[in-house]
Formats: sequence, structure tokens, C-alpha cells
Amino acid sequence: MRLDKYICKCTSYSRKESCSLIKEKRVSVDGIVVSDAGFHVNDGQEVKIDDTVLHYEEYIYIMLNKPAGYITATHDSNSKTVMDLIDEKRADLSIVGRLDKDTEGLLLITNNGKLNHNMLSPTKHVDKTYYVICDNDLSDDDINRLCHGIDIGDDTPTLEAKCRRYDQGILLTIHEGRYHQIKRMMEAVNNHVTYLKRLTFGPLCLDEDLASGSSRRLTDEEIELIKKYM
Ligand code: URA
Repeated sequence: MRLDKYICKCTSYSRKESCSLIKEKRVSVDGIVVSDAGFHVNDGQEVKIDDTVLHYEEYIYIMLNKPAGYITATHDSNSKTVMDLIDEKRADLSIVGRLDKDTEGLLLITNNGKLNHNMLSPTKHVDKTYYVICDNDLSDDDINRLCHGIDIGDDTPTLEAKCRRYDQGILLTIHEGRYHQIKRMMEAVNNHVTYLKRLTFGPLCLDEDLASGSSRRLTDEEIELIKKYM
């Protein structure tokens, strides 16, 4: 891999910034300063910026327990983003799907573009379970309607869903990911969401020990579970 690209993959430096570091002779490969951004880095070589050794990992997978108040974006000039919550500063990370600013819970962040694309693909029907609290109690009829597909103002009604009462609200599992889907489903039964938290995303479950605002790498077992989307 080219040296400038290698630096981008290991750090938050852009390609342009990486080239500048190389020109400034701050980058070495196996102890020798390299000033050519196109230098080919081979497996096992040690790349340093000044005295810091870089560690290359091709793909990384991060689970974040998103708190309310953060937007799902990589950059924003006005609001705090979910990226502000993770330690990993690689420039190639992206967020798999989105949760509204006031929604909490499981968010997956990765640099694996194929996984990102597949987990969001409408054809894959990846399940997502939300814990939902509304202004008013839902009737049995409301729950029935939510389960059987409901008109939320799109061309087609929502797909069948699973819904059951839980604690102060409901657990609702949907097999698609339309814009503001849960909030619009509740509006369709004349209700209003007051609290929303995503608990599962495909085969991944939010780690109960992960405090709100904290993140961690997926375990090997979790990575195994999402391999079918890679
Ligand atoms: N549905 C919503 O309405 N909001 C979310 O953040 C996620 C699903």
C-alpha cells in the first residue's frame, strides 16, 4: 500500500496532510526516513511518524451506546456528533445507518463499506428492535395494526413487525429502515414517541454493560455474527 494511504488508514490525517508529513521528513519506514508519498509499504514493516509507531488494521468494527443529544454524522459544524464519542480517529470510518438526535442506543461504526451497504440494503431486511415509550398507552388494536403493517404516508404500508408490551412501553422489531420510521408508526396510531432506544441491529445486541456514551470494539464472536453481510 502507498505510504500516504497507509498513514490515512492508521490515523485521522487526510491524504494531503499525510503527504505534508512525508515531505517534512517526519515519516520513517523500518527506521529510514522516506520522502516519497508513493513508497510501497509491505506487510510487517514498521512505519513511524516522529517517534510514534503506526498500527494498521484493515477493518474495524465499533459498537457505540449513543446518548441523546448527538447527531449521527461524521462531521458537523454546529452539533456534537457520535464521532466525538469514540477514541478511534481513523479518517475512513463511517456510521452504519442513522439514529435521530434524541434517539439512544446501538450504533455500529466501521470502515467496512461493503458491510455498511449490505446492512442498510432494503433487500436484506435487517431487523432492528427498539424500546419505545409513548405519550399514551397503546391499545391492543394499536399493537395489532403496528404488527400487521401500517400506512405512514409512504407509497406502501410498513412491513409486518413484531411488537409486545415491555416495562413502561413496547419492544418493536421492524425489518426495514425508513426515515423516522418508529416515530411515524406511532403517529399513525395517534400517539407520540417520548423515548426511543435501539436495542438490536441485525444479529448484534446492545451490550448492557456499555454505559451511555461509551463504545467498544466488537468481539470476535460478534464479528462472526455479521460476517454474512460482508
Ligand atoms: N425510527 C425513528 O423514528 N427514529 C430513529 O432514530 C430510529 C428509528
